[in-house]
Amino acid sequence: SWCCCFLAPLGTLLASSSLDNLLVLTVATKETEGFRRFKRSAQFFNYKIQALGLGEDWNVEKGTSAGGGQKVRLLKKALEKHADKEDLVILFTDSYDVLFASGPRELLKKFRQARSQVVFSAEELIYPDRRLEAKYPVVSDGKRFLGSGGFIGYAPNLSKLVAEWEGQDSDSDQLFYTKIFLDPEKREQINITLDHRCRIFQNLDGALDEVVLKFEMGHVRARNLAYDTLPVLIHGNGPTKLQLNYLGNYIPRFWTFETGCTVCDEGLRSLKGIGDEALPTVLVGMFIEQPTPFVSLFFQRLLQLHYPRKHMRLFIHNHEQHHKAQVEEFLAEHGSEYQSVKLVGPEVRMANADARNMGADLCRQDRSCTYYFSVDADVALTEPNSLRLLIQQNKNVIAPLMTRHGRLWSNFWGALSADGYYARSEDYVDIVQGRRIGVWNVPYISNIYLIKGSALRGELQSPDLFHHSKLDPDMAFCANVRQQDVFMFLTNRHTLGHLLSLDSYRTTHLHNDLWEVFSNPEDWKEKYIHQNYTKALAGKLVETPCPDVYWFPIFTEAACDELVEEMEHFGQWSLGDNKVGTLMPGLGPQGGHLSISIGFEREWHKFLLEYIAPMTEKLYPGYYTRAQFDLAFVVRYKPDEQPSLMPHHDASTFTINIALNRVGVDYEGGGCRFLRYNCSIRAPRKGWTLMHPGRLTHYHEGLPTTRGTRYIAVSFVDP
Ligand SMILES: *[C@@H]1O[C@H](CO)[C@@H](O)[C@H](O)[C@H]1NC(C)=O
Ligand SMILES: *[C@@H]1O[C@H](CO)[C@@H](O)[C@H](O)[C@H]1NC(C)=O
Ligand SMILES: *[C@@H]1O[C@H](CO)[C@@H](O)[C@H](O)[C@H]1NC(C)=O
Ligand SMILES: *[C@@H]1O[C@H](CO)[C@@H](O)[C@H](O)[C@H]1NC(C)=O
Repeated sequence: SWCCCFLAPLGTLLASSSLDNLLVLTVATKETEGFRRFKRSAQFFNYKIQALGLGEDWNVEKGTSAGGGQKVRLLKKALEKHADKEDLVILFTDSYDVLFASGPRELLKKFRQARSQVVFSAEELIYPDRRLEAKYPVVSDGKRFLGSGGFIGYAPNLSKLVAEWEGQDSDSDQLFYTKIFLDPEKREQINITLDHRCRIFQNLDGALDEVVLKFEMGHVRARNLAYDTLPVLIHGNGPTKLQLNYLGNYIPRFWTFETGCTVCDEGLRSLKGIGDEALPTVLVGMFIEQPTPFVSLFFQRLLQLHYPRKHMRLFIHNHEQHHKAQVEEFLAEHGSEYQSVKLVGPEVRMANADARNMGADLCRQDRSCTYYFSVDADVALTEPNSLRLLIQQNKNVIAPLMTRHGRLWSNFWGALSADGYYARSEDYVDIVQGRRIGVWNVPYISNIYLIKGSALRGELQSPDLFHHSKLDPDMAFCANVRQQDVFMFLTNRHTLGHLLSLDSYRTTHLHNDLWEVFSNPEDWKEKYIHQNYTKALAGKLVETPCPDVYWFPIFTEAACDELVEEMEHFGQWSLGDNKVGTLMPGLGPQGGHLSISIGFEREWHKFLLEYIAPMTEKLYPGYYTRAQFDLAFVVRYKPDEQPSLMPHHDASTFTINIALNRVGVDYEGGGCRFLRYNCSIRAPRKGWTLMHPGRLTHYHEGLPTTRGTRYIAVSFVDP
């Protein structure tokens, strides 16, 4: 269920006639996300706002420093009909980079306390003409210079203020107001003062060190520490847009640590009641840019997504020869189930950024592409509802939080350093660890994100989204999105998966995933440990085919197959050392020692510790194993090579014996007989292990394999 934070807007309780005499005017030529944020914050506190200029062209080149004259022209026009309203207070403010931190009552109170007819926001930095500094009145405390991003005043006085405007749209509004303010006569006549101590207006440029978030009694305010004030409007002017985005994650929302709820979901997209047929088309872009473990699981998870494949298109960039077979196998098996498929393989030698541009552009150029879902191969997307959950958030760009197993490493940054690289925000750890839950406006996301097709055809229409100066593609993408003033959101409301660790992945073996038990234990378990192992651990499904011989599921098909293939690939079936000969008469030349041969000793020990030891302790109460072993090997039985094993004791406290292939399919015969009990297990199950004591009581033999080849993995534990 959605947590709801828009409880009672505080303003509704305070409506009074004086509040009706307040009007908020702003200029917004486009409904940017910043503008929508401004409107939401205004609605939260019950401000009446009127936007001027919507739909008009913004008559200044983006990025040029001058401009703003258009705002004065529009204000002058709007004030014509209010010029005589002596009681009407008008707040004029920017909106793309502004939000309200408090309601109209507090605003009006502070305005009246200022004892001036017109109050302008104040700035630390003088702009745009530094030569005017000497003309500014000196202030003993507070900010000295006028900022035109926000001012408040009585309608007649404001009309007077803008009456003499005759400039161009591209002229500086700030310079215009500054010149009036610096003319002592006009200043007095119109009665203008500045909000030196940020009681009403907080411009963040030059003041970042002064502003902190105060969490108190379920509310959040931005506090100015320098003047000990609680500003009503926060303005992320100049280069402080990102800091405003950060504050906007908290302000003006109702926040309690108890519920951990910071989300005020506006415009959630409901998919309930939408039949599968009506779900929007999603282009899934998949990127294998480096050797990556568990690519087979990556595709399996794609198949498990709870979303109709006929509404999904696939774009795959595989940069790695190493994964070519896996990708092609997946497409051969399932490609036709999707609406369309495009593969760019390693032979094309396409660069990362170019491939990402190509994927995004496939969606952009196709009007029926409603979403572009970009997922890198090192993302383990384990939640089948992922796509639906992300679509529901209804954002232009949104990423689910993904972290590396048990680490602070994640796919987002909470802040940017001055040079545009990683910086840790104050809330980073709390978000990663789920102590603060919500949908967060952040400056950097990577690995997995959903972009609206409409955004790709709108603000993000540049076909080269993944290049930006010399930045890597991930950073280039974020820099370009930020530049277009599109917000990037991160949600940690649901756990949708995790990131793989690629650090120690090697491609020297046939099945390299087997070696990933340390780096990516969750995925290793998912791929290799039998689905019913957990049940066995809970005491279900464990069978006792012979006295003190336990039998339970441990390996998946993949584990069995890969282990056998790995051994055959290695190809050196050996006698082993003398010790084997003496202790296990009859073993013969077919025992391939994992420790000697394929370099799997550490991993095998980890497996025994993680998955066998807990079973041992359960089934043989009072016995604690450290899962030590000298011998662990795969035995190959063939009628014409070595069909059976003579009766013997094992050099172990207990032995595990895992069947790696299927009787009746891969071989006939085989099995294990315990002589003392005259008890045989004749139909070993693939992926199941026998576990029995090694010495004394469990003298046993390997029954003859009569056709095909039989493989078992054996370990003598605690010799
Ligand atoms: C503005 O404020 C002053 C008070 O200082 C007042 O005398 C004046 O008439 C007001 N109106 C205009 C249009 O300036
Ligand atoms: C504005 O008017 C008030 C009286 O209404 C006066 O006390 C104050 O000094 C005036 N301020 C300016 C800047 O003229
Ligand atoms: C797991 O056990 C259930 C019955 O408890 C069975 O239906 C299912 O096939 C088993 N899974 C596998 C992979 O053998
Ligand atoms: C062992 O059991 C089999 C039947 O399972 C039986 O035919 C045989 O006689 C038994 N052998 C001994 C020595 O008890």
